Amino acid sequence: MLCIYYLPDEREVEVSEAETILQASLKASIPHAHACGGNARCSTCRVLILEGVEHCAPRNTKEKELADRLRFCPEIRLACQTMISSNVKLRRLVLDDEDVELTSQLRVEATPTSVGEEMHVAILFADIRGFTSFAEALPPYDVIYVLNRYFHHMSQVIYRNGGYIDNYMGDGLMALFGVEDPTGAALKAIKAGLEMLEAVERLRPYLEAVYTKSFQIGIGVHYGEVVVGTIGAINMKKVTAIGDAVNFASRIEAANKQSGTRFLISEETYNQVKEYIHAVQKCVSVTLPGKSGEYTLYEVSGLSEPNP
Ligand code: FES
Repeated sequence: MLCIYYLPDEREVEVSEAETILQASLKASIPHAHACGGNARCSTCRVLILEGVEHCAPRNTKEKELADRLRFCPEIRLACQTMISSNVKLRRLVLDDEDVELTSQLRVEATPTSVGEEMHVAILFADIRGFTSFAEALPPYDVIYVLNRYFHHMSQVIYRNGGYIDNYMGDGLMALFGVEDPTGAALKAIKAGLEMLEAVERLRPYLEAVYTKSFQIGIGVHYGEVVVGTIGAINMKKVTAIGDAVNFASRIEAANKQSGTRFLISEETYNQVKEYIHAVQKCVSVTLPGKSGEYTLYEVSGLSEPNP
């Protein structure tokens, strides 16, 4: 048997050549962080090899990718990817008690588990156009009343179509489709988006009658990979999605302004649902802030049954 000496734990743990350092830690109940569940998708399991780095197997492709990105020196290794051929001494680098709790380390198990899950979902962003000018002449209580009425209608549509509202941002919202049931996530998001536009049309006469003005909304949908995990303070955790795809969906929504449209979807979303789309009103090429190159976005105006 080989041995790993852990700092700051000051413990010696036995490990076989077929086990990773993380597996050895968890088997010995060492509280070793492993936020992605041992998949080389985070860096919380990193260790500093103090002695015996030459006994560590070379980095595999997954570890190398992450190490290059985070500019790790050769002595910093991902415990979940590293096996050893002789004794080593190391220091765990995520040590803070809070980190330990937040990354579920205290739930010490022999098998690594993740604090999130990578999955493909449809992300919908909706924003009220010109809400500032709508709201500026109204008392704050009326603004809250109108927003609550609007969000109430939107949430009904979203839930009816199998999604849920992940977040409210001022007069905007973000909804996810496909977290519980991945079937037809993109189609459900588009159906919800179209029904949201209809719901706003039904709301407008009421707003006109009461406040002599109303508003429109802009919607953006993107279908892509995110990490869905629980975020928040210990007693206030909620499930949310993190990743590039979320930022992309938000930018698609914002692109409605420059394109003069109300509902844009990404090419990835379009590819998921094109057999159902009978009318693409407009196909626009846009540059998006923070992204290089041009992106093709589609304006959707309706859905139909697929051809048999
Ligand atoms: S990289 Fe995430 S647990 Fe090792």
